[in-house]
Amino acid sequence: MDRLIRKLTIDDYEGIIRVWSVAGLPFKSTGRDSREMMAAEMKLDACEYFGLLIDQRLVGVVIAQYDGRHGWINRLAVDPDYRGIGLAGDLIETCEKYFERFGEVVISALIEDENTPSMSCFGKAGFECITSIKYWSKRPRADL
Ligand SMILES: CC(C)(COP(=O)(O)OP(=O)(O)OC[C@H]1O[C@@H](n2cnc3c(N)ncnc32)[C@H](O)[C@@H]1OP(=O)(O)O)[C@@H](O)C(=O)NCCC(=O)NCCS
Repeated sequence: MDRLIRKLTIDDYEGIIRVWSVAGLPFKSTGRDSREMMAAEMKLDACEYFGLLIDQRLVGVVIAQYDGRHGWINRLAVDPDYRGIGLAGDLIETCEKYFERFGEVVISALIEDENTPSMSCFGKAGFECITSIKYWSKRPRADL
């Protein structure tokens, strides 16, 4: 089994959407996850999409983004056919290595309350859960 992690480009768009879909991760096809917005995001200086390929098939995706204060790990997903073999752990580690260039960084992730697999995954990677924080957002439009 040939296993590779590489940076993704907008040419990987369909593969990324496929992984998020089969992984059950909701995506905003007319908002943040549209081809146009994703292409713009990929051009940001401190943002990288990483993909994990098995035998050249994209089966895992994650976004690493440094905002000057936190290093955010976003949209981590692994194709259900390839779960339980450490791929998410490898992708988290790749993000952690990416953030090293920015110095000492607090690495963070937002995880929904009921998402036990994801919470265990980040727990195993050494992350600590702060339960007193609620996620607040303000949107120009609902599908963004
Ligand atoms: C969460 C997710 C990315 C894990 O992917 P994965 O490649 O199967 O995870 P790994 O094999 O690297 O597992 C690492 C650790 O995570 C935990 N874990 C993974 N799946 C788990 C499950 N179903 N139940 C409980 N713990 C789980 C375990 O601690 C595991 O370590 P172990 O195998 O030594 O016990 C995957 O389940 C997924 O894509 N979920 C849907 C998308 C999603 O919710 N993403 C998170 C957004 S924040």
